[in-house]
Amino acid sequence: METWIAPLAVLFGLSVALLVKSWILRPPSGGAGCSLPPSPRALPLIGHLHLVLGKHLHRAFGEIAREHGPCVSLKFGSSPYLVISSAQAAREAIRVRDSTYSSRPFLTPGQCKIFGADGILWTPYGEYWRNVRKLCTLELLTLRQIQRSQAARAEEMALAVAKLVEASRGPMPGTVNLTEVISDVTYGMILRKVVGNGHRRNEEALRFKHLLKEVFVAMGDFYVGDIMPWLQWLDLRKAAHAKRLYKQVDEYMQRLVDEQRRKGADIGDDFISIMLRNELFSKSDSFMKAIVLDMIGAGTDTSAVTIEWAMAELINNPSVMSRLLEELHSVVGPSSLKVEEAHLDKLVYLGAVVKETLRLHPPGAILIFQAAQPCQVMDYFVPEGTRVFINNYEIARDERCWEEPLKFKPERFVERNIDIVGLRDFEMLPFGSGRRGCPGIQLGLRVVHFVLANLVHGFEWKNPSGKELDMSEGSGLTLARAVPLELTISPRI
Ligand code: HEM
Repeated sequence: METWIAPLAVLFGLSVALLVKSWILRPPSGGAGCSLPPSPRALPLIGHLHLVLGKHLHRAFGEIAREHGPCVSLKFGSSPYLVISSAQAAREAIRVRDSTYSSRPFLTPGQCKIFGADGILWTPYGEYWRNVRKLCTLELLTLRQIQRSQAARAEEMALAVAKLVEASRGPMPGTVNLTEVISDVTYGMILRKVVGNGHRRNEEALRFKHLLKEVFVAMGDFYVGDIMPWLQWLDLRKAAHAKRLYKQVDEYMQRLVDEQRRKGADIGDDFISIMLRNELFSKSDSFMKAIVLDMIGAGTDTSAVTIEWAMAELINNPSVMSRLLEELHSVVGPSSLKVEEAHLDKLVYLGAVVKETLRLHPPGAILIFQAAQPCQVMDYFVPEGTRVFINNYEIARDERCWEEPLKFKPERFVERNIDIVGLRDFEMLPFGSGRRGCPGIQLGLRVVHFVLANLVHGFEWKNPSGKELDMSEGSGLTLARAVPLELTISPRI
């Protein structure tokens, strides 16, 4: 960030000078009887950049919404943006995204471009996207497919539990970096689902895991050139670093594809073999690498950070932890350490804890798309090309929809049947909604419930300082904790 702060300060000065000349920039009328949404006062050249610089975007947008309403139009550089911050406006925006086939904006220079638009996440609507989505859903994410990988998940969990037992039975109860444990176990589960059983426990796979972490941080980084192309030179160093990371990812993915090709695609039931047998995807290694990477990227961090936030909330809310433990004891029994996937359907309160975690800490804090054509949201005109930000984070904390919105109260989900997958209700959208909504909901929830239940049922966790845990948010593509979760551990039985 530091590299562009000085030039931006100069720009800021220049902007103020220009502001004297142009005095007040008013949002232009949208024509056809519709106006653009309200907009805070902008500065020449940088538009509203000064309102978000140095802040978490979801929080900065929240502050703007509180002053200007649920639909706000902003300008960063020359690009128009629309920020949506209410359930009703989100419903309309998703309807617009679906009916106009709008896609996610494809940013430059480094953010999303590992394999271009060959994957699924950043791929525009169209025939190719439809084919990829169908393949991923049918071959990986149906309930039957999820059931088939149950044994692999149980193995990964058993491995993690064994390590935790070791840590907890030492002469003194040890401190565990739970962030790492959770990241390892979810990565193992998702990778075995996506790439197959062969690529899990070797050195190279571990290095790849760390590399991926760095890549996701780089992808979530702010590139000033994305909004003001004439300042792209300020991103050069960061973009070069991202490129180096992408090259290493590319080489690893290529080895996975080559290895499977050598073994013979007809023998494997892993996802790469499935793609190698498919006429469309086997045409290009770049297709296969991009799809696998998107599935790992979309599936691992999102699940891991959800488990981490849930554990942190449980530590800070002992009465919620007690009620969850009671439920686990009555369903699983006090004499067994192990929660099995077969128990999960009976763990109703666990489900409520996960939903409440996803409400307060949605891994995808902001949903993004770019209007493919001029459209209307809440009677406001939205010009073609507008980048639309749906502030999931703010919507799920809106006091007009949620009682005591900042409190961690899983009970609200026991008392009311609230839809969290964006089919009926839009008060929280942790998985997005509509055609581009998350296809991995069932797998994601299964992993989160399974890992969380085992961590809570098997071990007693405490904050070594005895104080409340720091709940600050970090940066990156997913809304992660700012500081790792380090807790002392002792076994429950
Ligand atoms: C707790 C876990 C998860 C959360 C909170 C989550 C959340 C999200 C969100 C917010 C989106 C964007 C939706 C939109 O724009 O409307 C998304 C998209 C996506 N997710 Fe998930 N996700 C999770 C787990 C998974 C898993 C396990 C997979 C697969 C292994 C997955 C695969 C995807 C894919 C491929 C997309 C892009 C879909 C498209 O563009 O067509 N997700 N997810």
